[in-house]
Parts: sequence; structure tokens; C-alpha cells
Amino acid sequence: MAVDAPVDEPAGGAQALDSSMPDVDELEVEASAVLPEHVLGYFRGPTGAYGIPTEAQRWSQLRFRPHVLRDTTRLSLTTSVLGTEVASPVLVAPMAQQRAAHPDGEVATARAVRRRGVLLGVSTNTGVPFADIAAVGAPWWFQVYVMDDRVATADVVQQAAAQGASALVLTVDAPGTDPRRPQHEPRTWSDRYGMQVNLPGGDTGRNVFAGTRNLSLDDIGWLADLTGLPVVVKGVLRADDAVTCVEAGAAGVVVSTHGGRCLTQSISSAEALPEVAAAVGDRAEVYVDSGLRTPEHVAAALCLGARAVFLGRPVLWALATGGDARVEQLLASFDTELERVLRSLGAGSLGDLGPDLVV
Ligand code: FNR
Repeated sequence: MAVDAPVDEPAGGAQALDSSMPDVDELEVEASAVLPEHVLGYFRGPTGAYGIPTEAQRWSQLRFRPHVLRDTTRLSLTTSVLGTEVASPVLVAPMAQQRAAHPDGEVATARAVRRRGVLLGVSTNTGVPFADIAAVGAPWWFQVYVMDDRVATADVVQQAAAQGASALVLTVDAPGTDPRRPQHEPRTWSDRYGMQVNLPGGDTGRNVFAGTRNLSLDDIGWLADLTGLPVVVKGVLRADDAVTCVEAGAAGVVVSTHGGRCLTQSISSAEALPEVAAAVGDRAEVYVDSGLRTPEHVAAALCLGARAVFLGRPVLWALATGGDARVEQLLASFDTELERVLRSLGAGSLGDLGPDLVV
């Protein structure tokens, strides 16, 4: 797997970008033409009434109450997440099996992320060695599935920290996989793309897919103590849980339904975000993912209290159809359009966004 060396280039990407980026739905259609059926099924996850279309619709149902006659000439998307400056609040979610979308997997994603000056999550189940991802030079957070084997979990987490992960994202909403969809389980695929390659001894098939059932609030402190890194809890959908996580030491929470992939009939992230953001206040950072498909969705999420958002499947569709260049183009088009939407809301800065702009 080729890894390009970091080069001197301004964060935020200075290259000319093709403005003909299709929207995410069109990108998914393009990707479905190039991806094998089983990979497409896995990437899409549950479909139908409680799958991701509903989640995206929830974002689309929100309506803006824009201000007019506000000075927006100084609007900038630059912000920070847990102290890391990012050129935009549109970040990339941790997702397994990226090598099934493109041979370079997370290395390609990281290249695009570096050129855009943002940040990516890296899954416990990545098929790419941490060192290869780290060599690209993009900031990254390591997503942790706590396995039954705590020694192996500690080992992989410490390796991620040693390779430069700047935060840990503890996923808490995945107690098991859905046995009704065995064809979507990568371990059953004949064409293996690698998984858990950073675990001691490599992919031993150990524990992860029995699900994570042995978690408690103490694990937030356990992970922080292991590494000294801030811990973000991913998969929170209630204000009371968010507060408990913060009181247990979480530096942030991700309001997430896991892209509708775990409990398919849960409330949506769009519904959960306002109560979580209100309860957490400025005690920790609040992020959101699941079903964000347009810059308007992102703008609504920022208004409702998210400091940043994570895109999932849209990145996979771009990766599958054009590798790092297409992911870069996707992120660039989100940023360009997000600026336009924020100006239309009368926002002169990200700090001007608030819940009163959305109903
Ligand atoms: C995921 N997601 C995920 N989350 C996580 O914590 N660990 C993981 O290994 C994975 N793997 C994964 C694989 C694939 C194929 C997808 C699509 C998603 C969930 C991901 O981080 C994020 O929560 C959702 O993808 C966000 O929703 P959208 O943007 O895909 O709708």
C-alpha cells in the first residue's frame, strides 16, 4: 500500500477543485455500480422504514429561521475539536472496511482529510496498520471497541496513542451484530480486506463481533488513564446519559445512531441532539453523526448545538468512486456549500449559530 509523504500545503486545501460534485444520493448510485453486492449491503446497512433514509429525512424536516441584513464577510469555518484546529466542522467518521471501498482504505481517506485540514476517526476494525495512516499526517482519533479481552484492548489503544491518535472515541451503542443480516458480516466474506490488523497477533476474530457487553462508566476513566488522551463517548441519544458520561470524565459525546446500524428503531440523531446539547452545555464538546447528507443538514446540526459533525457513508461512496481525490472533492463541496448556507442564515461566524435559527 503506497503512502504519500506529508507535503507542505496549506490546511484547507489550495488545489483547484472540480465544482461538478454530484450530491450524495447520486454518489451512492455511482458507488453502487462499482461495489460488489455484499460490500454495498454492508456499507448501506439496514434499509427500509427505520434505516438511514428516515434518519436523513429527519434532518431535512428541520426548517431555518434566517436572519437578514447581517455582515457575513468574515465568516470562517475554522474551529477546533478538543484543541485540534480544523479548517471545517465537517469531519470523517470512523468506519471499518474502507479497503473494500478502495485498496488504500483509510490511507486514501487520510490524504483527503489532510488536504482539507480536517480530522478522521479510525476504527478498531480497520484493515490498515496505524503507522500507514499516521504517516499521512492528518489528525486522527481512534475509535475503541472494548473487547472481552481487556489486555488486547489496552494494547491496541496504547498502540494508537503511540502512533499519534489525539483522542479516543469509545463506541457504546454496539452490544452485538444483527443475526438477521449474516451476508453483511465482513468475516463471512470470501474476499477479505483485513480487519483488526492492529491487534496483537493480528486478526484473530477475537470478541469484537460478539459485541461489546461488558462496558461501564468506569471504562471512560480506564481509557483515559491508559493513554492520557481525552475520551469521547460515541452513541449517546439521551441527555441523562450524556451528563453521566461527562461526570465520569468524558471530554465529549457523539450523538449518534451509528448510522442506523445498531438499534434500528431508535430516535434519530436530529431528535436527540437538542436535549443532549442543552444538558451538556459547555462542560464538554458535543458532536453528531448519522444521516447527514447535505450542507443544510450540517448547518442545522451546528445550530442545534453540535461543535462538529462526522460524515459516514458519503465518504465511502466518494472513496469507492474516486479514491482520495473524490473524498477531497466531497469535503470541499460540503465546505463551500456550508459557507453559503451559513451566510443565508445571516451568520457572521460559527458562534452566531444557535437553536433559535431552527424549528
Ligand atoms: C460504521 N460506523 C462505525 N462506528 C464505529 O464506532 N466503529 C466502526 O467500526 C464503524 N464501522 C462502520 C462501518 C460502516 C460501513 C459504516 C457505514 C459505519 C458508524 C460510523 O462511525 C457513523 O456513526 C455513521 O456511519 C454515521 O452515519 P452516516 O453518515 O453513515 O449516515
